[in-house]
Amino acid sequence: MLDKVAFFNMADMQNIVFRLVLWCVFVAVCTAHPTKYPDVNLNVYRAKGTPPPFLSYHIHCMFVAYNNDSISSALKLMEKFIQHFNLTNTKPCEGLYHQGRLCVFDVDYTNTGATDPFVSANWAVFVPLEWYAKTVPWVMQNRGDQDILVHPNSGAEVSDHTRWALWMGDKWPLNSASFTNQTVF
Ligand SMILES: *[C@@H]1O[C@H](CO)[C@@H](O)[C@H](O)[C@H]1NC(C)=O
Ligand SMILES: *[C@@H]1O[C@H](CO)[C@@H](O)[C@H](O)[C@H]1NC(C)=O
Ligand SMILES: *[C@@H]1O[C@H](CO)[C@@H](O)[C@H](O)[C@H]1NC(C)=O
Repeated sequence: MLDKVAFFNMADMQNIVFRLVLWCVFVAVCTAHPTKYPDVNLNVYRAKGTPPPFLSYHIHCMFVAYNNDSISSALKLMEKFIQHFNLTNTKPCEGLYHQGRLCVFDVDYTNTGATDPFVSANWAVFVPLEWYAKTVPWVMQNRGDQDILVHPNSGAEVSDHTRWALWMGDKWPLNSASFTNQTVF
């Protein structure tokens, strides 16, 4: 009987650990990529000769993975942002797609650039169009020494992160070879 109980506990534990690992992988993948807009057909805009509209933005605050000073100053800005924009009791952004609300993604602490454009750690905000004029100026004035990338999400992932992006502070290198759908407009 005891053995049986112990056996089930172990199975439960393994199940929990397995789910936790899956969730971590899911979160890592989801925070690491641009917002997907699968309905955007860039060929329509190519045919018209006009660029696709910006559907939302991301603000990314870069920091050096495993460097405690860099981590703590970046997280201080994140906390300040969360408080200023009243996001203390709201859920983090979920998944890869349009969020429909201002939200902060789970922090990407360990990025190595293998599977996404960021070559170090960063925390990021999903910015619906109507929040741009409030969030971007706030970050301009409050970022301190943090290096910030603001990029649009239009479906053209590469252009969004390169030619169409804004930087505050220093520009960090990006691994644009990582984009799955090489959507340069
Ligand atoms: C992604 O690539 C596929 C295959 O080349 C293409 O059909 C699709 O339109 C692309 N998606 C976008 C958003 O451009
Ligand atoms: C960085 O912080 C972690 C967690 O608080 C700590 O374990 C580690 O010793 C710190 N590293 C350095 C180099 O201070
Ligand atoms: C946060 O909430 C307070 C109190 O409701 C409000 O006065 C303030 O404007 C809000 N801040 C933002 C950035 O929306």
